[in-house]
Amino acid sequence: MSPSVRAAVFQALEEFGGLLFSEPGLCVYSRWLEQCRAAVSRLLGVDKFFPQGVAIIPNASFGLGIVLNALGLRPGALVITSTHEHFALSSPLRLLSQKGVEVVALDQPTPQAFLDSIRRELERPSVSLIAVSHVSYKDGRIFPIEDICRLAAQFEVPVLVDGTQAVGQVQPILTRFTPLAYVFSAHKWLFGPMGTGAMWVSREFVESFAGAWASPTPEDVIDARRFEGGTVNVALVCGLCKAAEDATNKLEERIASLRALRRRISEVISESLPMLKPLGWAGPHAPGILSYELPAEISAAELVMRLGAKHGVWVKAFKPPETPNAIRISYAPTTSDASLERLIAALKAELDSWQ
Ligand SMILES: Cc1ncc(COP(=O)(O)O)c(C=O)c1O
Repeated sequence: MSPSVRAAVFQALEEFGGLLFSEPGLCVYSRWLEQCRAAVSRLLGVDKFFPQGVAIIPNASFGLGIVLNALGLRPGALVITSTHEHFALSSPLRLLSQKGVEVVALDQPTPQAFLDSIRRELERPSVSLIAVSHVSYKDGRIFPIEDICRLAAQFEVPVLVDGTQAVGQVQPILTRFTPLAYVFSAHKWLFGPMGTGAMWVSREFVESFAGAWASPTPEDVIDARRFEGGTVNVALVCGLCKAAEDATNKLEERIASLRALRRRISEVISESLPMLKPLGWAGPHAPGILSYELPAEISAAELVMRLGAKHGVWVKAFKPPETPNAIRISYAPTTSDASLERLIAALKAELDSWQ
């Protein structure tokens, strides 16, 4: 959580603490939620065409679950996905596959090859959904979501996008295409509070939703607010609102800082640690994620524990069943030179003496 977001959360706790669910408290509660939805709609770029599609949710898994369940996929249906999906998406897809839904996970070395393989699958009449990340949590590749949506529209297939690793570190794309739903958690690149996220769903999704899921209101709510469920932690929602405003106002600046850091780290690693093989594809990558495949004899999980325990440097390990045997280095626009030097020194110390 960034300092400005933390301050917004504490300020809201303080203000709301004196009001609680009195009539004035209820007014403040509703207004803050409304402000947060508006901030998210500006962040995602949907404020001009369907801001009513924004719902505040606790996290990405929650939103992905709502959408997957709403679609009511039956045995025989086919879902196209990628091999780069986080468990938040791959786990419910695995449950669906155990019930007879066919799930095809694609992996290709270029955006064009990825699109071509989607096109080939789309020729099959059973395709019912494309479910992919905007940015891969594994290697930061940016999937060609707009092209995927354009292609899917030709076959009238809905697209569900997990934007968790994208929102706050790449430019928003919802102004230029329309998936069925775009879902994200806010504690990653938005530096928002844990336990907050949002989703944008299309008008078509809202209108065709047949499930009995509605937030408790006296009237039928026919926009995406119906997916929010009951009472939320309004202080965290104020944090989400602040995080969305900050990201909207400072996105270019953040991207430039992350890009510069990415360049520096990858240059140093390619010069001084050639045994680390950069992961990625021949296409665009998000600026804040760098991943490296390790030589087979070095376990990613073990390396990460040694880096943490001995050097106080924490990176992410991909652990089986995740593939490949790799680590992911994440950094923030505020990451200091000293931290980078510590990372490189720790990697060198452990990899040069590995046994
Ligand atoms: C791409 C992606 N999607 C979803 C999630 C899961 O988010 P949550 O646990 O907040 O639902 C993560 C978490 O790391 C992620 O990287």
